[in-house]
Amino acid sequence: MGKDKLVKFEAIRHMDNVYENNPIHKGQWAKGHFNNNQPIVLELACGKGDYARGLAQVFPDKNFIGVDIKGNRLFTGANLARQHNLNNVAFIRTQIDHLDQYFEKDEVDEIWITFPDPFLKDSRHKKRLTSKKFIEVYRQFLKPSGVVNLKTDSPQLYAYTKEVVSELNLTVIKDYSDVYAMEKQETELYGIQTYYEKMHLKDNRTIHFISFQIDEK
Ligand SMILES: C[S@@+](CC[C@H](N)C(=O)[O-])C[C@H]1O[C@@H](n2cnc3c(N)ncnc32)[C@H](O)[C@@H]1O
Repeated sequence: MGKDKLVKFEAIRHMDNVYENNPIHKGQWAKGHFNNNQPIVLELACGKGDYARGLAQVFPDKNFIGVDIKGNRLFTGANLARQHNLNNVAFIRTQIDHLDQYFEKDEVDEIWITFPDPFLKDSRHKKRLTSKKFIEVYRQFLKPSGVVNLKTDSPQLYAYTKEVVSELNLTVIKDYSDVYAMEKQETELYGIQTYYEKMHLKDNRTIHFISFQIDEK
């Protein structure tokens, strides 16, 4: 690992808006970290937390927590959150598979999954963040009426997610096969573009969006 990454890995251990190997606020994130009773929204595979920080500005009455395993990206996101005085944003460095260690049943109101790796090989389908395995993980802490939002450039992951949603008989809230085909859809997604989304748009890739509830109909 490069020296720069090592420095950032060490730095996040001392930042008061980043948690690593430390689920002290399980069951009491709103009070314990944010010092309020606002709803909790997660951004999974957050990278630098572009959606978490963007939504935090649009919704100061909600708390946002970005989750990723890459410490150097979290370092950048956590610093930007501090620079913009976003006290309603925090980050957790962990594998998303282990999030049940950080959140109590019904503690989370909404989940955003932004441009996750699509893990295209069939043998790796369980790593996809909208696989049945991960829906079960989310059910451990997302409220039954809670919504999962997926934004992706991958037509395969988009189609796969629709299959999972259909097989589990979940309720689709919104489904945009091309976010930028209609201006309204773009506005509904708050006009936030992540680092990866900007790269994909430069490559003229189509951006897909689907949101659904995780309780069975
Ligand atoms: C393609 S990047 C997207 C980053 C950001 N959302 C964006 O759009 O700019 C995917 C991110 O997902 C994270 N990731 C993928 N699977 C993960 C998992 N199981 N647990 C934690 N992070 C994961 C990777 O570390 C990576 O930062």
